[in-house]
Amino acid sequence: MRFDVVTIFPDYLAPLNLSLIGKARAKGLIDLRVHDLRDFTTDRHRTVDDTPYGGGAGMVMRPEPWGEAIDHVLASSTRPESAPTLVVPSPAGVPFTQELAKTLARTEWVAFACGRYEGIDERVLDDARQRIRVMPVSLGDYVLNGGEVAVMAMIEAMGRLVPGVIGNPESLVEESHEAGMLEYPVYTKPGTWRGRAVPDVLLSGNHAAIARWRRDEALSRTAERRPDLIDGAPSAQFDESDLAA
Ligand code: ADE
Repeated sequence: MRFDVVTIFPDYLAPLNLSLIGKARAKGLIDLRVHDLRDFTTDRHRTVDDTPYGGGAGMVMRPEPWGEAIDHVLASSTRPESAPTLVVPSPAGVPFTQELAKTLARTEWVAFACGRYEGIDERVLDDARQRIRVMPVSLGDYVLNGGEVAVMAMIEAMGRLVPGVIGNPESLVEESHEAGMLEYPVYTKPGTWRGRAVPDVLLSGNHAAIARWRRDEALSRTAERRPDLIDGAPSAQFDESDLAA
């Protein structure tokens, strides 16, 4: 899978050379290309921002370098029919979820436009929409200083879904958000630590009982921490004993 990132801080993305995503890049499973927005400026000061029309605090990213940078990314398409989705990280975007990560990971190419300051001149998105799918995406209801940290999170979430990136694909099945619930608590050795014993059922060897316990724990944890997930879940997901509880 290919990712392109346009940013004024290419070094911000350096951690994507580490760990599983770094290994996937080395193996050729992930092709990550980072572009410096300032390389697409034409003035001596490599200016990328200016004051907002209509007034107000802060600066807005000028459209010209963005237009050039996006044209450059699109021109590097290896096949005439292939085009990326352009993800624009923004607190004003649609929420980034596991579902969206899966949908995007099924495409072969995602490009990211990292805004800083108050954001990117809206005409850049309108212009790109003439040619490709453009999606403003938010990591959550809080404000970061720019899109780079959000892009790292999104590339990690999508990259680990690319076949071959995670050694044991079964570990993708039982994790939080896969069944619409949070994951159950996990334990390892030693059996007792600081006076706290691992729950007996996990040592019982009774696989049905273990599965039941894990489901119950996942459900009560989800009800407590994320009731919104339960309210939104189809009722077929719960059985009679869940509903009685
Ligand atoms: N840029 C600034 N805040 C953001 C957020 N919450 N999500 C995605 N991109 C952002």
